Amino acid sequence: MTPVLEVRDLHKVFGDLTAVDGISFSVNEGEIYGFLGPNGAGKTTSISMICGLLPPTEGEVLVMGLSIAEDPRGVKRLLGVVPQEVAVYEELSARMNLEFWGGIYGLKGKALRERVNGLLAQVGLDDRAAEPVKNFSGGMKRRLNLAMGLVHDPQLILLDEPTVGIDPQARHKILDIVKQIAADGRTVLYTTHYLEEAEDLCDRLAIIDHGSILAEGTVAELKAKLGEGSLLTVQGGFKAPELAAAAGAVAGLQPVEIIDGRGMLVVGRDGPGVSNALSGLFQAGLAFDDITIKEPNLEDLFLNLTGRELRD
Ligand SMILES: Nc1ncnc2c1ncn2[C@@H]1O[C@H](COP(=O)(O)OP(=O)(O)OP(=O)(O)O)[C@@H](O)[C@H]1O
Ligand SMILES: [Mg+2]
Repeated sequence: MTPVLEVRDLHKVFGDLTAVDGISFSVNEGEIYGFLGPNGAGKTTSISMICGLLPPTEGEVLVMGLSIAEDPRGVKRLLGVVPQEVAVYEELSARMNLEFWGGIYGLKGKALRERVNGLLAQVGLDDRAAEPVKNFSGGMKRRLNLAMGLVHDPQLILLDEPTVGIDPQARHKILDIVKQIAADGRTVLYTTHYLEEAEDLCDRLAIIDHGSILAEGTVAELKAKLGEGSLLTVQGGFKAPELAAAAGAVAGLQPVEIIDGRGMLVVGRDGPGVSNALSGLFQAGLAFDDITIKEPNLEDLFLNLTGRELRD
């Protein structure tokens, strides 16, 4: 299957600064692919090259097999961009903004009206459609900005940090809309510096910093690749030596702290896996009345890879 988006060895140099330093990845139909990186990582520069706004210094972008360098108009019809900065006309209503934008893509008459009505409903602005956008909250403007990128029903949607500066509830709405877009079979490239969003939303993600992809995969793959292992905490009516003996019999299970009635153990990433570790402990006949498993945190992983926090 041809990927919806294929990026090959993309570079962008601004004078002395290499903003994007050889990025390659591909995204399949219906996937949400995340670009997770701190300020200045090269997310927007990459998006700008992928959508044809900025010519790459080197490298290639293919959308459904079409090269953006060879067929920019063809590619632009296939993709929709939701820029990091909200770009709407404040004096116009939400409906007029969408009609204007749809007109640019050649929609008119009934088709345009129906499309705009559908989008207003999709982003939950149908009851405020007639008001000037300057009355809108930040979250509402973000939702309109999102709808503008969808007006020509693109196959691939590029979203550049669409939830920055809005409250958690408004963010939640945006994430739901993005999930729905992918469920409808559209493909999404989503940049963010919020770990929770990347975890919640993305099928796969790339951790990017200084213009390079440092790691790529599903959230589980990334954690498995770089995490220390899962932390298993058990409680029950056992004595410390009993648990120590049981844990000692399971290869790859390392005790962190064991006292009477309670133990903390790490299931190493090359170890037996959490369920095997647990069944090993059960086989020893210990009675547990509480078990918790804490997975390694992406934040730790990010810090580990980049030596810095995601947020400023
Ligand atoms: N037009 C430009 N001219 C010179 N340098 C630029 C230009 N655009 C971006 N840069 C630089 O390229 C680097 C990457 O910037 P970019 O905007 O792609 O980062 P980002 O990951 O989107 O960051 P943020 O999370 O802050 O939006 C930064 O160091 C930035 O200053
Ligand atoms: Mg940016």
